[in-house]
Amino acid sequence: MAERKCHALLVVAVILVALVGGSVDASEGEKPLPFIILHGIGDECKNQGLYEFTQLLINMSGAVGFCIEIGNGASDSFFMRLDKQADLVCDQVKSIQGLKDGYNIVGLSQGNVVARAVIEFCDGGPPVHNFVSLGGPHAGTASIPGCTLMSLCKLANALIRLGVYSPFVQNHLAPSGYVKIPTDLDAYYKGSLFLPKLNNEIAIYRNETYKKRLESLNHLVLIMFQQDAILIPPQTAWFGYYADNDFGTVLPPEETDLYKEDWIGLRALDEGGRVTYIAFPGDHLSINDLEVRDFIIPYLKSSPTGEVRVLSS
Ligand SMILES: *[C@@H]1O[C@H](CO)[C@@H](O)[C@H](O)[C@H]1NC(C)=O
Ligand SMILES: *[C@@H]1O[C@H](CO)[C@@H](O)[C@H](O)[C@H]1NC(C)=O
Repeated sequence: MAERKCHALLVVAVILVALVGGSVDASEGEKPLPFIILHGIGDECKNQGLYEFTQLLINMSGAVGFCIEIGNGASDSFFMRLDKQADLVCDQVKSIQGLKDGYNIVGLSQGNVVARAVIEFCDGGPPVHNFVSLGGPHAGTASIPGCTLMSLCKLANALIRLGVYSPFVQNHLAPSGYVKIPTDLDAYYKGSLFLPKLNNEIAIYRNETYKKRLESLNHLVLIMFQQDAILIPPQTAWFGYYADNDFGTVLPPEETDLYKEDWIGLRALDEGGRVTYIAFPGDHLSINDLEVRDFIIPYLKSSPTGEVRVLSS
């Protein structure tokens, strides 16, 4: 099986990639919910790797799938604020008739924090059933993700030199929204415009609605890549993160305050048996077709009533 690398990230026009390829099994005659893909930084739905990944999920699940493009694709994935990106996705999912009874989300890298913003912030959006997160910077990252397009990277690096929590950078460089330097937390809480809100980190601004919405997921699948060189530390994909002021200690998810005090419902979901933590040995987003089949597809076939059907093929 070829290793499949999806350099990922964001979203605007909707591209209906395709409807059905050969569905691998008989799902008791019942059509699975549709899914959307939210890609990572610097990627675009029309890129071959992502296009084929979307097609593979459609083929294997038998579900209708949409790769959602945010704005103009790669460049907006770098330079549009993440809450604005999520607003655009919110409008899109509300406008797609086929999603109105619910849908699943597959997130790649940065697309996962956009996905979570859609789940938590999108007023009046259709219900999200399962959320499968591959390499998401859920608890932050201590460096800006690597770049593939040199022109964009140079601009991004120039911006970072202005100070990652400065209002200008926060407004014009998407990944600054989830940078969290564990030794500079005061500046983060004061300056970061995105992640503290998404994670309900600041007591006086905490919003129970965000928590209720995330808690209403049927299932949350958190996939970490153990050799991830893009997310620092890789455990952020599981909501694990550095202890405050300490680059030497990475707390597992259940030892973070976010979990212990249950700011966003992760603990409730977990205690309800509705979180699956998966670790793959490779680098960021490296996943092969067998792993896709065994670890992602079952959640794209689950029935709206709750249980995941794992069918042998
Ligand atoms: C999906 O199925 C179609 C139709 O059978 C096939 O042409 C295509 O190569 C498949 N794509 C992937 C990525 O599996
Ligand atoms: C919490 O979020 C909801 C949904 O966006 C919003 O309607 C509500 O006004 C917010 N509550 C507070 C206290 O800000």
